[in-house]
Amino acid sequence: MEAVKVPFMDLKKHHKERETEYIEIFRNLLQSAQFINGQSVGEFEKKFAEFCGTQFAIGVGSGTEALLFSLLSIGVKHGDIVITVPNTFIATAEAITQAGAQPEFVDVEEGTMCMSVERLTEYLTEKCFFDELTGETINTISGKPVRAVIPVHLYGQMAKIDQISRIAGTYNIAVIEDSCQAHGAQYFSEADKKLKNAGENGSSAAFSFYPGKNLGACGDAGAVTTNDSQIAQKIKMLRDHGQRTKYYHEIEGFNGRLDTLQAAILLNKLKYLQEWNNTRRKLALTYSAELSKIDDVMTPEVPDGSYPVYHLYVIKVKNRDELRKYLLENGIETALHYPVPLHLQKAYKNYGYSKGAFPVSERCANEIISLPMHPWLLENEQNAVIEEIRKFYTTRN
Ligand SMILES: Cc1ncc(COP(=O)(O)O)c(C=O)c1O
Repeated sequence: MEAVKVPFMDLKKHHKERETEYIEIFRNLLQSAQFINGQSVGEFEKKFAEFCGTQFAIGVGSGTEALLFSLLSIGVKHGDIVITVPNTFIATAEAITQAGAQPEFVDVEEGTMCMSVERLTEYLTEKCFFDELTGETINTISGKPVRAVIPVHLYGQMAKIDQISRIAGTYNIAVIEDSCQAHGAQYFSEADKKLKNAGENGSSAAFSFYPGKNLGACGDAGAVTTNDSQIAQKIKMLRDHGQRTKYYHEIEGFNGRLDTLQAAILLNKLKYLQEWNNTRRKLALTYSAELSKIDDVMTPEVPDGSYPVYHLYVIKVKNRDELRKYLLENGIETALHYPVPLHLQKAYKNYGYSKGAFPVSERCANEIISLPMHPWLLENEQNAVIEEIRKFYTTRN
């Protein structure tokens, strides 16, 4: 019998199913020629804000811009510090440096691989002091003020945002959620005694609609969500050359708008997002039930009250590289998110970090493997992935 081929992601399958709808969207746009600032932008923003439970959603060109504009909208500037984690996509740190600030990393929790509340507290209490006069938290060595913290809701699971927000509040630091992988993720907030969504917790949140995301465009796209009207207004200006009225520039901004075409596609896809997230959750349940039976595999930890949306399904394993090679030889594609933590990337060697600085992130980078996970994954494809992983470990032990 021929082995089942399992691609890591299968957007082509989805596009085939919905081809007529998407072509119709493009045809309509060609007729109206409203490629920039067209009607679908506002309509999508309204619906996406509703989905996230926020007052505002502002469409922008990408998740990276959503992060950058979020930082600029609260006044982050040259000479400031912004805290984040080392095991994220580089865009999180790029936004910080492109706002002129310096990223400072704190390590993650072993189980969820999201920002460790203990490490964040340790950074603020041991490396900083709170200046009662100015109300600023200052890094003791560099003398720079800490302006914001960006927890990353990694793989579709929310970081411990209740606790992070409480600590940040104590130190007068803004929270910006990197929700680029977490459209629809929820957690039960002990502080508010209700379920809360990714995107409604900080001063603002950044979403990416990169094609492979849970809600993906047919190109680059992103959004910022917020409940703060001033931040919303500022982001609208930042994305459109600093203008509220055409050719009257109040500040210098960017060309960072969401294309009408992408907004129209996203508006269409948003109707299915909940259903797709539920499919991802079911697939994750099956993966976890079956793979947790294998000693050398650690399935994702999901704390009580956390409802991830599994943008990625990531396990930690022994002999990771051999497993990856074996799976590929048997037609199964996998990926690594992410192979090198940011503090060890060549691009950031000027920050002077060395190996061992963030041991949990470093260990995770060596053990993680992302398995095929998307709403179009078939039962026989998922079974093949599970079966091959089982075979790999039984033949070795
Ligand atoms: C955690 C995280 N942050 C930021 C981004 C940047 O988003 P974009 O690629 O839309 O700029 C991504 C996208 O891959 C991401 O996964």
